[in-house]
Amino acid sequence: MSRKRSRCIGILTAGGDCPGLNAAIRGVAKAALHHGVKVIGILDGFRGLVENRTVQLDEKMVSGILTLGGTLLGTSRDKPHKMDMGGKVMDMTGVAVANAERLQLDCLVCLGGNGTQKNALHLHKTGGLDVLTLPKTIDNDVVGTDISFGYDTALGIATEAIDRLHTTATSHHRIIVCEVMGHSAGWLALGAGIAGGADVILIPEIPYDLRAVADYLMERRHHGKRFSIVAVAEGAKSAEELRQAEREKGKKKLRKNPEGRHIVLQNGLRVVQEPMASRIAREIQQLTGIEARVTSLGHVQRGGGPSATDRLLCTRLGTKAGELIARDKYNVMVAVRGDDCVPVPLDDVAGATKTVPPDHPWIASARLVETCLGNQWP
Ligand code: F6P
Repeated sequence: MSRKRSRCIGILTAGGDCPGLNAAIRGVAKAALHHGVKVIGILDGFRGLVENRTVQLDEKMVSGILTLGGTLLGTSRDKPHKMDMGGKVMDMTGVAVANAERLQLDCLVCLGGNGTQKNALHLHKTGGLDVLTLPKTIDNDVVGTDISFGYDTALGIATEAIDRLHTTATSHHRIIVCEVMGHSAGWLALGAGIAGGADVILIPEIPYDLRAVADYLMERRHHGKRFSIVAVAEGAKSAEELRQAEREKGKKKLRKNPEGRHIVLQNGLRVVQEPMASRIAREIQQLTGIEARVTSLGHVQRGGGPSATDRLLCTRLGTKAGELIARDKYNVMVAVRGDDCVPVPLDDVAGATKTVPPDHPWIASARLVETCLGNQWP
């Protein structure tokens, strides 16, 4: 099919990085180039669009990157409509759109998690820019898709970590509390906890009671199990903390970070916090009298190259995006549905979070293998 003018897309990666971003960039770019579409890489997420920092992506640039971790384009958590410009937070939507027009972009492809889906939709609705997104996050909390890329790799890393903690916890007859990423959704802690055989799994969706957890751990000890592994999602909250937060609603003036979480900022930077799991380990030790240690997996979970499953997924999602671009199908997220990659309206995705439903089969399975989920006996 002949086209009137050669078309052009921009591609950016935004939000926290994760394994598979380069594989997805490669998939989108190769498929687009195959269809005769020019590809421009935008550096450091939406900030690069505002600051007009770009690089042309040709065959050579996207070759040999399938297995590489991180993102060759760089990333940031900046939002176009609330961007810190030298200490002043400004709405830069107009500049972003003007730059996209100057680059003659037919579409802006945005690879990112929930924040990115919202920012992309904002650029479309407010600025009239055609966009297309891919679901990226180790948290697996993007709605409308069976899975997000990055999750499988992080799941493997977290599971291996729990496996390794098992051998040392067993040798020393200790409790080890392992903090796993996941600020709003517990997919990673639940998945890795089940796969790694954690004895207790605490996730944001199920408020926990540390007394119930301590009773469970003591019971294990009475049955001759002298060690225990507690996998905890970073966003897990106790029932008491939730009640307290409810009481204090509106009282505290905490700024929201670009992902929408309440965090404390100092000079525009997030204040480095002690792992939340440290407090849990301390309290568990007090309640049980059993020695406890803590391990926070942190950014290790997002580092390094993608798993085979993520490489395959990113190639499927990326090439599907290229195919949709060739058909001028925009303003959708490319989602995974079983063996297929399908476009879903961005409107149905942006602004929502896919949390673990209480009746999810993984929860039922965890309980049936006698895992304590923090609120009641298995
Ligand atoms: O990518 C999402 C996530 O993994 C969250 O689970 C976590 O809270 C966050 O990233 C932390 O990332 P950063 O330190 O880059 O803000």
